[in-house]
Amino acid sequence: ALVSLRQLLDHAAENGYGLPAFNVNNLEQIQAIMQAADECNSPVIMQGSAGARKYAGEAFLRHLIEAAVESYPHIPIVMHQDHGASPSVCVNAIRSGFSSVMMDGSLQADAKTPSTYEYNVNVTADVVNIAHSVGVSVEGELGCLGSLESGMGEAEDGHGAEGVLSHDQLLTDPEEAADFVRKTGVDALAIAIGTSHGAYKFTRKPTGDILAIERIKQIHARIPNTHLVMHGSSSVPQEWLEIIRQFGGDIKETYGVPVEEIQQGIKYGVRKVNIDTDIRLAMTGAIRRSLEKDKSNFDPRKFLKEATAAAKDICKARFEAFGCAGQA
Ligand code: G3H
Ligand code: 13P
Ligand code: ZN
Repeated sequence: ALVSLRQLLDHAAENGYGLPAFNVNNLEQIQAIMQAADECNSPVIMQGSAGARKYAGEAFLRHLIEAAVESYPHIPIVMHQDHGASPSVCVNAIRSGFSSVMMDGSLQADAKTPSTYEYNVNVTADVVNIAHSVGVSVEGELGCLGSLESGMGEAEDGHGAEGVLSHDQLLTDPEEAADFVRKTGVDALAIAIGTSHGAYKFTRKPTGDILAIERIKQIHARIPNTHLVMHGSSSVPQEWLEIIRQFGGDIKETYGVPVEEIQQGIKYGVRKVNIDTDIRLAMTGAIRRSLEKDKSNFDPRKFLKEATAAAKDICKARFEAFGCAGQA
């Protein structure tokens, strides 16, 4: 059944587990997630970005997720709008049936330029007013997603700001988070705690302390009833990078967030863990391998089936590691 993010994350908080929120763009990704959730008996969060809507079209995306709801009636599913760039994007998602929206007011409506705190508060509070009146949950974002290792990594503004901002300034401020939640009433809050989007998070193999665990604890203590969200949570599996390279791909050395660190984050209050890149890497590796191994094949179902299986394995591993297996 379709449920709101608030319903799912309240249950996760009461029972001390976290939930992966997987980005979806097509049939195969949705089937992979649902097959994994069915086998693990896990609740599901599927989220569509602006890029997903552009790729699939809003109606296809919505109907594919609705097909998942219909096919797996025993599994609670959140249909979430990822990184809504403006209130109108969120209102459109609400009207089309999404049960949760993210108003990402950390950036201006161009989704590139950092915004002011006042702008963020205003647009987010507006969306909360509308969404809550129809039972839809809202995720906000406060802080600048970057990488602690490089000073900023690939920051959301696209310009590395190394040397301009200190580590501390890159992390979400606990006091500001409390003020933001008081003024907006968001159900969930994406915080900057050391991660960044995409495959290129860290240039060296992480040896622990990737996440700002102390900061997570401080923020959680200030806003215990607001669910913390961690973006950029792909672990960038080295096995899949190897397979991509082995079968003709070209991906330079890179590392993601170790699953054990995400487990630490969940222990101290993170409830929603956004993952897109890991599924992309697994599907790409599986397709490259399949096409290389069976050169005479021209039936897309054959290589897409292998891509689905690869994505499903990632999803199962995350459901199990985050503690949501068995919680549907
Ligand atoms: O937040 C970023 C997600 O990975 C979605 O990426 O905008 O390419 O669909 P996308
Ligand atoms: P990754 O690029 O680490 O998978 O993060 C995805 C994300 O945060 C989507 O909002
Ligand atoms: Zn994100």
